[in-house]
Amino acid sequence: MRTAHSRCSAASGLQPSVRNGLKLTRRTRAVPHASQTQAANVHPDIDRVLFTEEAIRTRVNVLGRELAEEYKDKKPVVLGVLKGCFVFTADLVRALQPVPNGLYIDFIRASSYRSSSTAGDLTLSFSVRPDLVEGRHILLVEDIIDTGVTLQFLRGLLLKGGAASVKLVAFLDKPERRKAEIYPDYVGFECPNEYVVGYGLDFDEKYRSLPYIGKLKDHIIGSK
Ligand code: IMP
Ligand code: MG
Repeated sequence: MRTAHSRCSAASGLQPSVRNGLKLTRRTRAVPHASQTQAANVHPDIDRVLFTEEAIRTRVNVLGRELAEEYKDKKPVVLGVLKGCFVFTADLVRALQPVPNGLYIDFIRASSYRSSSTAGDLTLSFSVRPDLVEGRHILLVEDIIDTGVTLQFLRGLLLKGGAASVKLVAFLDKPERRKAEIYPDYVGFECPNEYVVGYGLDFDEKYRSLPYIGKLKDHIIGSK
């Protein structure tokens, strides 16, 4: 699988199940929801902070330890889905303790097809060395899983390319918006159905550098 430029569109709808008051997205681990605490020094375009820098640090460290255990003997290929994943991936790989043997880190590019919430066709640029796919255990790292179309498509390509396993870790999961039948294996936080920015996520290429996750003020989104 040298290079593939592909287009795909959303599959049919899917609802998360609810058990014991917890929304389940076919995973057994509990996933934290948005906090109510407001951080200091919040950007003026942010309506409210959903996940603070401190909450993120704590959560990513937990994920890092879980993933280090899962991949300790698997020579994993950690494959970040650019651009939004860059902050999460950098923190996550440093939280992989102890460092898995043979850990390899790479990135692929998935072009965004919207600036806020309109769905549509998805264009992906994809180029990975075949020896990093065939027979390898791949961990796809996403900033946020929304409709799920991006990850479903990438996972299919990697499995077709002969990957031994493909698992997904998403920093944020918006299960309410899922269109493709796909569930992340690991999730940082469950996110309400709002457009959020920070920690690598953007709106029109802005706000990626904010160290927390925040909901944008409505008039900012409306002005686009
Ligand atoms: P999907 O899961 O295929 O719908 O697409 C996920 C991608 O859409 C993410 O990797 C982001 O680039 C983008 N995205 C979805 N929701 C948001 C959001 O709330 N803020 C910023 N980007 C988002
Ligand atoms: Mg992304």
